Amino acid sequence: TAGAATGSPVVTLAANAPVISKEVTVLFGSQTGKSQGLAKKVTKKLEDSGFQVTLSSMADFKPNNLKKVQNLLVLVSTHGEGDPPDNAISFHEFLHSKRAPQLEDLRYSVLSLGDTSYEFFCQTGKDFDNRLAELGGKLLTPRVDCDVDFDEPAGEWISAVLGSLNQASSASVAVSAVDHAGESAAESEFSRTNPFQAEVLENLNLNGRGSDRETRHLEISLEGSNLQYEPGDCLGIYPENHPRLVEELIGAMGWKSDELVTINKNGEKRSLQDALLRNYEITVLTKPLLEQVVKLTSNSGLQELLAAGREQDLKSYLVGRDLLDLVQDYALKGVSSAEFVGILRKMPARLYSIASSFKSFPDEVHVTVRTVRYEAQGRERYGVCSVQLAERIQAGDALPVYIQNNPNFKLPENPETPIIMIGPGTGVAPFRAFLGEREELGAEGKSWLFYGDQHFSTDFLYQVEWQKWLKNGVLTRMDVAFSRDTDQKVYVQHRMLEKSAELYKWLQEGACVYVCGDEKKMAHDVHATLAAIIEQEGSFSPEEAAEYLTRMQQQKRYQRDVY
Ligand code: 2AM
Repeated sequence: TAGAATGSPVVTLAANAPVISKEVTVLFGSQTGKSQGLAKKVTKKLEDSGFQVTLSSMADFKPNNLKKVQNLLVLVSTHGEGDPPDNAISFHEFLHSKRAPQLEDLRYSVLSLGDTSYEFFCQTGKDFDNRLAELGGKLLTPRVDCDVDFDEPAGEWISAVLGSLNQASSASVAVSAVDHAGESAAESEFSRTNPFQAEVLENLNLNGRGSDRETRHLEISLEGSNLQYEPGDCLGIYPENHPRLVEELIGAMGWKSDELVTINKNGEKRSLQDALLRNYEITVLTKPLLEQVVKLTSNSGLQELLAAGREQDLKSYLVGRDLLDLVQDYALKGVSSAEFVGILRKMPARLYSIASSFKSFPDEVHVTVRTVRYEAQGRERYGVCSVQLAERIQAGDALPVYIQNNPNFKLPENPETPIIMIGPGTGVAPFRAFLGEREELGAEGKSWLFYGDQHFSTDFLYQVEWQKWLKNGVLTRMDVAFSRDTDQKVYVQHRMLEKSAELYKWLQEGACVYVCGDEKKMAHDVHATLAAIIEQEGSFSPEEAAEYLTRMQQQKRYQRDVY
């Protein structure tokens, strides 16, 4: 960006044009790094157009500075039940509090990332938009809400924002076309929109015989891709749907497997069977999809389900059902495959926390994937990616992959900083990467791992490796909670409580805390336990303990990778 200052275009304002600042503040709230990647992208484009941009995570932005901002861009994702990502919580709270200033001089726009299969789709983005308007802000360009496949709408938003700011400031630089969004860790040609066909080197089940669970350990080659990653980053994998589901869907609709369908805007064609296997999501039902189906079929039953007043029925119908259910339940027919695939969402990649350190395994990437199988609505259901990896991928096969940077889950810069890692189940994956990295670096900082799963004898993932690291000092301590070996369930947070004095001492020494795994139950309970430990050991009030954790979050000493 050094060139941006010297290369600024000469700005000539029309006599009657409002004087608009060439300063723009770009704030992002990001859990997995997607909003952050897009924020960097819009920043680069603005700088190329001669704007002065302040790019910041919401967590690092001083809310009092908001009064001085004239042009604000907000890029934010939504989680769980309409919740902001961790690094947006404080700013979101501030803006909605009485402390928020009036913002009559502000012009702003919001880009929100979300998923239409969730009830509170893009809620955090909507919150920011509504609240900024309430405080007097004026729109630069309307908010855009993106579904899982965000490239196109995000690109359009970036163009609109640039257009609006350029027009307002009469900047003389034309806006260049927006190319693909998304960030990759390394200078590689491969990315989310252009995945690398990676060879699978190993595919093992980590669970012992007799376990209720199956967890695959995959070792994947990145050789020749130039892809690199840091501990904490994720691997994106594009899966294939189950061939049986595809076959049944084609049969139920009376289509033919070898009909050709167009799969993108460039007019690329492939067989219907291939397209349904690889290009489209057929295992998730969303309200927008059902609305499209009604448009295509005028199906009266479905129309009724979508009618006002039946929101609860609709909500419960959408849970756990797939496209085959929909087609069977509403006896859908008479729609061409071309029309039908036109309304489906593109197959989204699945993100897995990387379980290896690139330094320990150059040109390889390892992931830890729990196989998801369950029964619902009288049929066996499969996790699309996990079951493919468990049943239909062997060493020698290729998988389309890319690296998804996760700037919000990073080892401390100082190798001497103590780390506390909490990761039951597959949540332990990134800690194998952390410890591998610290071993390679010869890092001297203390480390403490809390791990748990159902049974010691069959479910102790990577047991030998933790033992090796305990022995050679890379791992200082480890506490385990096997929940189903005893009458009373024991979870990681129970172990944390047992060691609360020691744990608090580590926090006071500046330790960073990392939590990875299930969001709704585990991460929530672990958060409450951390607060309880701080309250008890530091003799704080509940409010002070909460502030302690917020401060840790702001200092990036409390980071979560939860799903
Ligand atoms: P359970 O299946 O016996 O309930 C990894 O999945 C481990 O996390 C399992 O031992 C699981 O126990 C446990 N687990 C389930 N709910 C949890 C919670 N709320 N907090 C912490 N661990 C939990």
